[in-house]
Amino acid sequence: MFLKIVRTWFALCLMTLLAASAQAQTAARLPNVVILATGGTIAGTGATSTTTVGYTAAKVGVDDLIKAVPELKQVANVTGEQVFQIASENMSNEHWLTLAKRVNTLLAKPDVDGIVITHGTDTIEETAYFLDLVVKSRKPVVVVGAMRPSTAISADGPINLYNAVLTAGSPDAVGKGVLVVLNDQINAARDVSKTNTTTTDTFKATELGLLGYVVGNKAHFYRASTRKHTVDTEFDVSNLSALPQVDIAYTYANVGPTAVNALVAAGAKGLIHAGVGDGSLPNKVRPALSAAREKGVIIVRASRVGQGIVARNGEANDDQLDFVVADTLNPQKARILLMLALTKTNSTKEIQRMFYTY
Ligand code: DGL
Repeated sequence: MFLKIVRTWFALCLMTLLAASAQAQTAARLPNVVILATGGTIAGTGATSTTTVGYTAAKVGVDDLIKAVPELKQVANVTGEQVFQIASENMSNEHWLTLAKRVNTLLAKPDVDGIVITHGTDTIEETAYFLDLVVKSRKPVVVVGAMRPSTAISADGPINLYNAVLTAGSPDAVGKGVLVVLNDQINAARDVSKTNTTTTDTFKATELGLLGYVVGNKAHFYRASTRKHTVDTEFDVSNLSALPQVDIAYTYANVGPTAVNALVAAGAKGLIHAGVGDGSLPNKVRPALSAAREKGVIIVRASRVGQGIVARNGEANDDQLDFVVADTLNPQKARILLMLALTKTNSTKEIQRMFYTY
């Protein structure tokens, strides 16, 4: 009997020791972060060290991007994949579907803790929002770019990449949706925009605000988005090989119906009207939009202003016109949500719900 008690006690001690050691190993294990490279200025090269415009984007490969920041090894076990090598003004729906499927495949692996996507800054906000709606994991996905090419004095790419990898490996970034990290700041994909053509502080969520900072080798969060994203959305691109054609018609003083009519004639299934002010419809454009609606094209009233709510039944009788309003999404992001909405429904009631949900 005594021997049995000793044996049991010993087994318990051994199990406790093993559990503690496993816990210590997990805590000590660096996160496994995969870098998916797509091109852009972060991979750009210029003729001289002072060339910060007029350089060539999308030249440096992912292995060299990683080699340029040996400090990455201190914060994560990093591997790299060159998914594309393009300037981001050339990003397409097909690129987005390829990228989203690769992200979801990788995040389904238990040994992948987070993903960083290096990307040109011109369309970072669009790719990030698209992924925010279709990534099916709570694991961190961080999109990063640079405003100066890798060859420039004080290039911002290396520190942005380091901060992005650090954030992607941070437990605090789990469940926050797709993030955009540049200039030591963490922004939500839904709310961030490029606000300056050339400066390194260009990415801002001007009114809705950033989520946090990367300071002192740590990602610090102070807010979270109230809108649904990633695992909480109804969108699934796993079986999609194309997205519905949705275009944007920009409005300005003296505008006519030409652009709207041309986009509809070219086969647009949805049209974002980038209106002036609170999404106002000029008299010369309204009939063309109504005619498009009658043909079954979904019309979304957005605004070129960039901040604020486009109010339903404000500058136009949306109930009567059977239009949708973009809420606070800018035209380029409203286009993304409408494309995904059209993979699910043509009901304007359902689509309006989506614009108030995501
Ligand atoms: N051609 C632009 C792009 O790839 C360069 C801008 C940048 O990446 O910062 O988005």
